[in-house]
Amino acid sequence: MKKIAVIGFGFMGVVHAKNVITAPDLKLCAIIDNRDGDIFAGIESTGNAGELNLPLEKLKQVQVYKTLQKCVTKQQPDAVIICVPLFLHYELTKQALNLGLNVLLEKPFCPVPEQCQELIELAHTKQKILMIAHCVRFAPEWQFLAECIKNQRYGELQLISTSRIGGEPTWGVWQDEKTKQYCGGSLLDLLIHDIDFTNYCLGFPATININLKCDEYWEIALNYPSSPAKISIKGGFLHRHSTFESTCAATFANGSIRFSSLEPGVIHVGADTGTETVNVSGDAYCNELEYFIGCIKHRLKPEKCLPEFSMQTIEVCNKISQSILN
Ligand SMILES: NC(=O)c1ccc[n+]([C@@H]2O[C@H](COP(=O)([O-])OP(=O)(O)OC[C@H]3O[C@@H](n4cnc5c(N)ncnc54)[C@H](O)[C@@H]3O)[C@@H](O)[C@H]2O)c1
Repeated sequence: MKKIAVIGFGFMGVVHAKNVITAPDLKLCAIIDNRDGDIFAGIESTGNAGELNLPLEKLKQVQVYKTLQKCVTKQQPDAVIICVPLFLHYELTKQALNLGLNVLLEKPFCPVPEQCQELIELAHTKQKILMIAHCVRFAPEWQFLAECIKNQRYGELQLISTSRIGGEPTWGVWQDEKTKQYCGGSLLDLLIHDIDFTNYCLGFPATININLKCDEYWEIALNYPSSPAKISIKGGFLHRHSTFESTCAATFANGSIRFSSLEPGVIHVGADTGTETVNVSGDAYCNELEYFIGCIKHRLKPEKCLPEFSMQTIEVCNKISQSILN
């Protein structure tokens, strides 16, 4: 039974805490949050992707700490899941690794590649698993697409067109005009999901073109040396409270596939011979957690989501931001 502590009990921390507490072979030994007041107040209305069915009574029995140091002294966790705002990723991950803990860090890695590199080396020195939680790699619809690209189920890939749009977050640090500037905007908060996914499938882009940018909305074209396919990544923040939707369309030599977050688990396939629906199941965050725990148990590198790769995704995002300044 592995003991897991969740650091940061906000929007994503609640999701991870729920998944740990409901996993048969894991113990949620602590929640660490430095907020004053009752951290459980109002959590029924927080969390990611709608209805979470939170085991509230069980969660309330978990020991809460204000600092990681105190938690480690009392609980000796095997791993932490870090779910704090981006500008705290470096410090908290460094602290956790120095305390000898395995770390699942919410995406994105750190804003500065040198910080990422330092943490990768620290994890190596301490012989601990460090994985960045790029959940899209673990989402069944996207896994289906990755397999179609790899095994050419519908022939050679010609196009991937993604869109990820929603209102600017209304919770946590996003409510503070000054602090939110250190959260990376829609590029590092939203679009990085799709950029990381296309990097995962195709390598790293040779050229990047910003076709359109309007405030926090982007239309980006990526060109990968490994593939002649056209890659279009669109989306960003609209006004607060705008409905969230992530969609993907991919076309191959012999067929096209489409899916949307508004219709989870359903993949529409169109080909000259007719239409087909492929149903997939599973939860990206549960899959991601299970994979991370498997890596800890078997002392395996998280090959499916290496921190070195997550750092390169940060570098791609930094190139995108810089190209808008030039
Ligand atoms: N994978 C996804 O789908 C997804 C979705 C949303 C957010 N995220 C990522 O999750 C991370 C957290 O985002 P969020 O929306 O959950 O943030 P949030 O603001 O809702 O929650 C952050 C929590 O961290 C706590 N915190 C702040 N500093 C702390 C410290 N030093 N020690 C302990 N606790 C501290 C805050 O009190 C708060 O409760 C970000 O990196 C974000 O990009 C991922």
